[in-house]
Amino acid sequence: MVGGRMARLQAVVLAAGRGTRMHSSQPKVLHQVAGKPMLAYILAAVEKAGLSDIAVVVGHRADLVARSLGERYTYIHQEPQRGTGDAVRLALEAMPAEVDDILVLPGDTPLVTAATLQGLVARHHEAGGAATLVLARPESPGGYGRVRRGADGRILGIVEEKDAGPDELAIREVNAGMYCFRRAPLAEALAHLSPANAQGEYYLTDVIALLAARGLPVVAVEAGAEEVLGVNSRSDLARAEKIVRRQINQALMAAGVTMVDPENTYVDAGVSVGADTIIYPLCFLEGATRVGRESRIGPGVTLRDSVVGDNVTIMHAVVLSSRVGDGSQVGPFAYLRPGTVLAAGAKVGDFVELKSTFVGPGSKVPHLSYLGDAQIGAGVNVGAGTITCNYDGQDKWPTIIEDEAFIGSNANLVAPVRVGRGAVVGAGSTITRDVPAEALGLGRERQVNIGGWKERQEKKKQQQKNSGGG
Ligand code: UD1
Ligand code: CA
Repeated sequence: MVGGRMARLQAVVLAAGRGTRMHSSQPKVLHQVAGKPMLAYILAAVEKAGLSDIAVVVGHRADLVARSLGERYTYIHQEPQRGTGDAVRLALEAMPAEVDDILVLPGDTPLVTAATLQGLVARHHEAGGAATLVLARPESPGGYGRVRRGADGRILGIVEEKDAGPDELAIREVNAGMYCFRRAPLAEALAHLSPANAQGEYYLTDVIALLAARGLPVVAVEAGAEEVLGVNSRSDLARAEKIVRRQINQALMAAGVTMVDPENTYVDAGVSVGADTIIYPLCFLEGATRVGRESRIGPGVTLRDSVVGDNVTIMHAVVLSSRVGDGSQVGPFAYLRPGTVLAAGAKVGDFVELKSTFVGPGSKVPHLSYLGDAQIGAGVNVGAGTITCNYDGQDKWPTIIEDEAFIGSNANLVAPVRVGRGAVVGAGSTITRDVPAEALGLGRERQVNIGGWKERQEKKKQQQKNSGGG
């Protein structure tokens, strides 16, 4: 309590940088880790730590960054990007007067946990620090600012790698780029920053030496090196990705999912999988995918933004924005394109492609078919090689196959067309008109058998030889 009111804490997330080392047209903070932008991880951790007052400093492709996060946050525009110190100075200027303490976080450390942020804030309040830092001791400190301490162990400042001499480069203790500051001394120190350094930038890190030199309390908490991993390059991104995927898989296994080979199972953040489901290797569960209980997924399955029920078996398949009902079977080698819905107990077999198609309960499309814009009732059998001709070059048309119908092999269903309840379509038919319920629809040439064919052929050959050789 300060002067009878709670000291107010606001978070500032720095996300204005270009991320030069990524060599990307996309802003660095929007690069994804396990299917989610890096920046979204930091914001989730801040929110989980109990802070709702969050400002995000945007600059490089600001609109794109702000649009991807939505309207929950306050945006501060930094143009041009003159360094982390400049970014925080702009954020401070826009901050309401009643804010007393500021939590500053980088936008490129997706692995930080809410617990570490809470520990940082708690330590800051206990110690009454002007600045409280998160530090770490990675195996290799390369790329991070190094922490300079006095003989008595007090923190004296941070030196950026590009400005460090050999002795400083040997320091293993690094700055995680996450801090809590008391507002007034921070504002004063920021006003004294100079860009006279290797990168010509206003370094936020220089604030630490300024505060320490004034004898103000600068304290620190330590975090695991993995947790503060800063993503500056594609190889850092791959490291973060590996760690996050491992965490996701471990959480799923802890909740009762079997992974035959977790190292080769790729599950995005936010995907859910029910207990007793088995995931075989080389599966990709992406986006807003949900899988139920006791299903068998894989090997070799991609599920994107799809909902898979309980007791489903899917092998070697690609399933996009589709729903697969309880007890269904899909694959091997099936492709369910967006808008496909399989009701309970449906079967979609090998070399089948479905698009915007509903397959009713217990219906089967076992082999070699393409069905697009089709509504298939219950208990239907679609024979091998059946194709819906749903596109006339200009428009897409629906095909309706009612309950209990039987489509013989190699049929072409030229849409719009309806096959009535219990009707049969003869194998090899091209169906251009509706088939009434219970009827047989045949659309093919009648077969003719020509007797003695072989003998007539032999005779013909003999005659040709005789006349040609004369
Ligand atoms: C920074 C720290 C370094 C620390 C490391 C931890 C400084 C000077 N250095 O270095 O001590 O070890 O983080 O990961 O702070 N940003 C802006 N505006 C700018 C510049 C950067 O918003 O003008 C943002 C970036 O988008 C990024 C964050 O600030 O999200 C950090 O910037 P980055 O360039 O990645 O700093 P590092 O070199 O990693
Ligand atoms: Ca960084």
